[in-house]
Amino acid sequence: MSPDWTEKYRPQNLDGVVGNPQAVNDLRNWAAQWNRGVPKNKAVVLMGPPGIGKTTSAEALARDMGWGIVEMNASDQRTAEAIRTIALRGAYSDTFNDAGEFLSSADGGKKLIVLDEADSLFGNVDRGAVPAIVELIRETRQPVILIVNDFYALSRKSSAIKSETLQITFKRPIPASIVKALKKIVAAEGIEADTEALAAIAANSNGDMRAAGRDLESIAMGRTVITEADTEHLSNRIVQKSIYDLMYNVFRKNAPSAARKMMMDVDEDTDMVMLWVDEN
Ligand SMILES: Nc1ncnc2c1ncn2[C@@H]1O[C@H](COP(=O)(O)OP(=O)(O)O)[C@@H](O)[C@H]1O
Ligand SMILES: [Mg+2]
Repeated sequence: MSPDWTEKYRPQNLDGVVGNPQAVNDLRNWAAQWNRGVPKNKAVVLMGPPGIGKTTSAEALARDMGWGIVEMNASDQRTAEAIRTIALRGAYSDTFNDAGEFLSSADGGKKLIVLDEADSLFGNVDRGAVPAIVELIRETRQPVILIVNDFYALSRKSSAIKSETLQITFKRPIPASIVKALKKIVAAEGIEADTEALAAIAANSNGDMRAAGRDLESIAMGRTVITEADTEHLSNRIVQKSIYDLMYNVFRKNAPSAARKMMMDVDEDTDMVMLWVDEN
C-alpha cells in the first residue's frame, strides 16, 4: 500500500515545516548547543495541539543535524521500561543503537531520543514513567525531546520536568499557510484545485494539517480537478467542537486559564473566537 498523503508529504527537513518559525528556530538553536558540548537543558518539550508538526519537526531536526533517532511512543505500554533502560545507558555511554545497546562514542554519533505523546503516559498504566522521565532528562548525554499536547498534565506530575527542560510551543498554522502546503501536494499529484477549495479544506481543519491533508486526499480520490463544490460536504465538526470546549471552559467550569490556554493554541484566529464569546 502506498503511504497516505500526510506521510508522503511529511516535510523531511525543518525548512519544510510550515508555520511556527519561532519554534523551529528555538529547536535549531538548542540543537546547535549540542555541537559545543552538553547544554544546560538536555531535554526540550514540544507542546501544542495535534497535527501541527511536532513529531515532524523532531524527526526533521535529527535529519538536519545528521543525528540518529530513537523514537518511543508513550502510548506503548512498554515505554516506561524502555525509558528506564535508555536513561540508564544514556548516563554512562555516549551513544547507543536503535535496540538501545550502547556503542562507544567512536562507533556512533549523537542520537536524538524522542518520547512522543509523553502526556499519554500518565494517570494510567505505569506510574513509574514520571521518575523514569526525570531520570532520563537528568542523566542523559544525548539530546532528548518530549512531545506533548498538554504540558500541564505532564508538568504538574513533576516540577523537575518543568524546571529542567526547555519548553517550545507549537501553534496551529494559519489557513493561508495550510493552503500553501496543500497547493504543493496537489501540484505534485498532478491535480488541479481551486484556491477556494483548498481554503475551505484549510478553514475546516482548524489548523490541524494532518486533518487537512487527509480531507484533501479523500476529496481528490478519483478526481483530477477539485472545485469548491467538492468540499461542501466537509463538516465544521472540528471547529464546532473546539468552540464548544472553549464555551464550556469559560462559562461552566469558570476556568479562565483553560480558556486562555485554548486561545493561545490558536495561532491567529483569536478575533474569531472572541466574536463567538461575545455572541454566546
Ligand atoms: N507544520 C507542518 N508543516 C507541514 N506539514 C505538516 C505540518 N504539521 C503537520 N503536517 C502534516 O501532518 C502530518 C502530521 O504531522 P505531525 O508532525 O505528526 O503532527 P503532530 O506531531 O503535531 O501531531 C505530517 O505528516 C504532515 O504531512
Ligand atoms: Mg505527533
